[in-house]
Amino acid sequence: MEYNFDEIIDRRGTHCFKWDAISEMYGRDDLLPMWVADMDFRSPDFVMDAIRRRCDHDVLGYTMTSDEYWNSVIAWLTKRYNINAAKEELHFIPGIVAGIAYALLCLTQPGDRVLVTTPVYPPFLNLPKESGRMLVSGRLKIENGRFAIDFDDFESKAKQCKLFIMSNPHNPAGTVWGAEVLAKIAEICERNNVIVISDEIHADLTLPPYRHVSYSTVGDVAKHNSITFMAPSKTFNIAGLGSSVCYVADPELRKRFFGWLDALGVAGGNIFAFTAAEAAFANGEEWLQQMLDYLKTNVQTLDEFLRFRMPQVKVVLPEASYLAWLDFSDYGIPHKELADKLINEARVVLNDGTAFGGSDYECCFRINLGCPKSMLLYALNRIAGVFQTTK
Ligand SMILES: Cc1ncc(COP(=O)(O)O)c(C=O)c1O
Repeated sequence: MEYNFDEIIDRRGTHCFKWDAISEMYGRDDLLPMWVADMDFRSPDFVMDAIRRRCDHDVLGYTMTSDEYWNSVIAWLTKRYNINAAKEELHFIPGIVAGIAYALLCLTQPGDRVLVTTPVYPPFLNLPKESGRMLVSGRLKIENGRFAIDFDDFESKAKQCKLFIMSNPHNPAGTVWGAEVLAKIAEICERNNVIVISDEIHADLTLPPYRHVSYSTVGDVAKHNSITFMAPSKTFNIAGLGSSVCYVADPELRKRFFGWLDALGVAGGNIFAFTAAEAAFANGEEWLQQMLDYLKTNVQTLDEFLRFRMPQVKVVLPEASYLAWLDFSDYGIPHKELADKLINEARVVLNDGTAFGGSDYECCFRINLGCPKSMLLYALNRIAGVFQTTK
């Protein structure tokens, strides 16, 4: 079956964050949202059908995860990432941000230091701060047009910290961390008694020829000092269902963390999360492959567009997922003015770079390419139109 990712679906009026939050935030209705990290594609038919079938039974009482659910999760993780997890090493998690919060509360004390590398997904910055921990930020460097870890800086900061929260692959720029990089992180974290939280929510969206390497698979050290989070939510555009899983191989760590999760009562999940995840993982390969092919052409479109129409914009193109990092600093326009121009003149909503790590990321913005190509080009043309007039 050939899926149609060109279809324009009007999501307005569904209380979807990406489209429906902006009129309240900006006080205008004519903005094109290229921000929140979900896609404007139809959620797959096999997921929607499974949800509809479950709705045919009219009782929605407390529900358990089924063997079919776990088998589909385990088969996906084994086949795609070589994570040979046993069922008892996995736990349902409603959402990954919540999962990281649970891990922080379980494994650290107020005042403990928590390491992140910026720019990074904003909740990684907020969770330690809001839970009374101390945030320690290492800064990624740009090497050959992609983000890279500065290991001297990383180790000096890891020495002070209890936990490292890693986006693997990396949001905001879709950087795929290779096995060597992950092994080095493992070695440094082991030497300094740092537990690694590997958030792999974007893993399934790794764009060939890049390949996702799950942190826990790079060796025994990584396997035993980590908690890995995975989810079908970004992959199959079902983020509104809150359906993630957590993998912990180390028995001690697992006892602590899963005990805490059970005490919190999160295993009960919700019926539609279980139903959708099972259907997605059991039937999703073909849909995913076609969707990734489509995303790759969107990445190429962005690249070509910027080269020809906006060569001043420096871009970090995604190796995974649908998020690209744009640096407008060569225009010489102050950050606030740039942000205002994008909203009020181009009428396009991008994510403000400063949300990913503060003023170091002024003049940078994250764009979401998970939409029909026509919509992407429409947004890019609007942006380019505004900047041409300033030259
Ligand atoms: C790296 C990363 N982690 C977690 C999330 C959100 O996960 P959840 O909706 O399961 O809390 C996102 C969403 O953009 C993300 O990019």
